[in-house]
Amino acid sequence: MKTDILEQSFSTYFNAKPEFIVRAPGRVNLIGEHTDYNDGFVLPMAIDRAVWMALTPRTDLTVRIRSLDLEVDSAFDLHSLTKGEGWIEYIKGVAFELQKDGYDLRGFNAVMTGDVPRGAGLSSSAAVELATARAFASASGFDWDAAHMARVSQKAENQWVGVNCGIMDQMASAATREGYALFLDCRTLEYQHAPLPENTAVVILDTSTRRGLVDSAYNERRSQCEEAARWFGAKALRDVSVDDLKKGSGLSEVVMKRARHIVTENARVLEAVQMMKADNVKRLGDLFNASHASLRDDFEVTNEALNQIVECAQEQSSCYGARMTGAGFGGCAVALVKEKDAREFTDAVAVAYKRKSGLDASVYVCKASAGAGVIERP
Ligand code: GLA
Repeated sequence: MKTDILEQSFSTYFNAKPEFIVRAPGRVNLIGEHTDYNDGFVLPMAIDRAVWMALTPRTDLTVRIRSLDLEVDSAFDLHSLTKGEGWIEYIKGVAFELQKDGYDLRGFNAVMTGDVPRGAGLSSSAAVELATARAFASASGFDWDAAHMARVSQKAENQWVGVNCGIMDQMASAATREGYALFLDCRTLEYQHAPLPENTAVVILDTSTRRGLVDSAYNERRSQCEEAARWFGAKALRDVSVDDLKKGSGLSEVVMKRARHIVTENARVLEAVQMMKADNVKRLGDLFNASHASLRDDFEVTNEALNQIVECAQEQSSCYGARMTGAGFGGCAVALVKEKDAREFTDAVAVAYKRKSGLDASVYVCKASAGAGVIERP
């Protein structure tokens, strides 16, 4: 158990029992890709892989953290935050934004560990940010407001770390409920917990390719979307309908393709939520497949490995649908699979993908877990 490891390590490093153990999950996005920064709709699910911190508040303003995975210590003073490099920047960034927002923070001692694979498109950074926010809430004694903490964490990532992400990952890590996906309106941050289909497994297919330096491609997509919205005279592509697209013939071909992905993807998310409520997993799977095709052909954010692994999944008779998930350019895909055949599916896809690409995939069933929280201990 993670909590045992954390308690033991905490006493090794700090010679005491931790007062709190907090946890924040990674996420897999079921559908609604690149729609978040277009004020659109997304449907992520928190996964059963997370970042954990065991901590005890201090009486001063020092934050001292031992990363068990990287085997390094780091410390900083809440009154004199300066930018540096590495994993600790996510933590400093959240501390900075919380203080900017008026929170009166206390320092703490912590040990931290996690099992969200990094760079795989499963939001390991959002998990670190939300675990940090949760740790400060416990140490400093303020109430947990999931949507607000997601916003603060997103600001930390945008402004302190310098990655221009949308709000989906932080909301998924902050606000999800065990057993449900999160249907989120990224304009208003209103959300509903959407039930997962019965007898269906959500399978993560990690291509083992990593996205590397894709910030520029991500930012380019963002500006193309903004250009398209301006062209349609809309605040964001969220406000453009599938019918409006017909009027877009004056747009450059590439910008039109980007717009078509976003507009049709938003429509797919809305339909997907209906299909989940109706327990129509077959149609939900078709929407997954259509989303992948749109990301591959119109938004152009897949790589060969993602296309190959998605094909390997779609070829299995137990698979309802599959698509890339997250920012793209590498990382993971997600598939909806008949639960009773999930084991056979994971084995078959791993073999087929190895044959096709020469690469080793990790393919595993994941469970919809709860958002950031404090772990109750006896
Ligand atoms: C990354 C970003 C998210 C979102 C996805 C694409 O995960 O962090 O905000 O834009 O890409 O859907």
